[in-house]
Amino acid sequence: MHGKVSDMFSGPIKLFHLSDIHFGLEDRRALSWVEACITREKPHAVAITGDLTMRARHREFDAANAWISALDVPVTVEVGNHDLPYFNLIERFVTPYKRFARIKRLVEAQLDLPGLAIVPLKTTTRGQWQRFPWSNGWVTERALDETLDAIDSHPPGTRILIAAHHPLTERRERDGKLLTINGTRTMEVLAGRGVAAVLSGHIHDPFDLTVDTAAGPLRMIGAGTLSRRIRSTPPSFNEIVIDGARIHVTARNLEHVATPDMQIRQVPENALPPRESGEPVAPVGAVPPVDPPVH
Ligand SMILES: [Fe+2]
Ligand SMILES: [Fe+2]
Repeated sequence: MHGKVSDMFSGPIKLFHLSDIHFGLEDRRALSWVEACITREKPHAVAITGDLTMRARHREFDAANAWISALDVPVTVEVGNHDLPYFNLIERFVTPYKRFARIKRLVEAQLDLPGLAIVPLKTTTRGQWQRFPWSNGWVTERALDETLDAIDSHPPGTRILIAAHHPLTERRERDGKLLTINGTRTMEVLAGRGVAAVLSGHIHDPFDLTVDTAAGPLRMIGAGTLSRRIRSTPPSFNEIVIDGARIHVTARNLEHVATPDMQIRQVPENALPPRESGEPVAPVGAVPPVDPPVH
């Protein structure tokens, strides 16, 4: 799906990268603040990298769809592992995106900005024969092919940002645990295509890392959460400014914590507290021992 954005503007491009709002356990104060920032600053686009809801319940999707529909800027929405039907397995396998109906045109939408495109990469799957549970990512061959075709359809020189839910790190650094299946090869292929950065969510703490792949370096930018399911940093979103060859990331938050103190240095497994000892936490923070209850 393509969303053509006006090419009236020139100069730096400002994006807001939001993630893991988790309606059902959203942080109302943080969301009102983000909404006001979007209205006031009118970023060129907003990328929401998944986990819109907590349990993919109808009432959570009603709230998510209403909030996103009201944003008056171009938006792309990626699908997180919390967004596929959780209790209704028939719906999960047959019509997994049905609950996104009201924002269908935004889901996995490609955004074309002047000299820059945001291209989706699907990492959330209905099931995974390789393991259970299915909370972590899998870049299937088909998903990767779709993304590569989309990249290749742009004129040479177009800067490409990939939007995905799961970070592409395939193995946890500490013990080699499998995280995103096919992640290493995906990162290599994207680096080989000259992709400017991969935007992702799922971790609930922000990061801005450069990974060395066999085909060269690849920038990986993660956004924190706007939910009450926090890990080691307060609710936040990323402001990403693309100015020529430079990409500048600011982790904006209501607590005025400086960006370097918000960012973790490695990609942990996921956002489930308590974080195990030895897993990366941001300099700012304490990890809550448990999540707030979901009702
Ligand atoms: Fe999440
Ligand atoms: Fe997630």
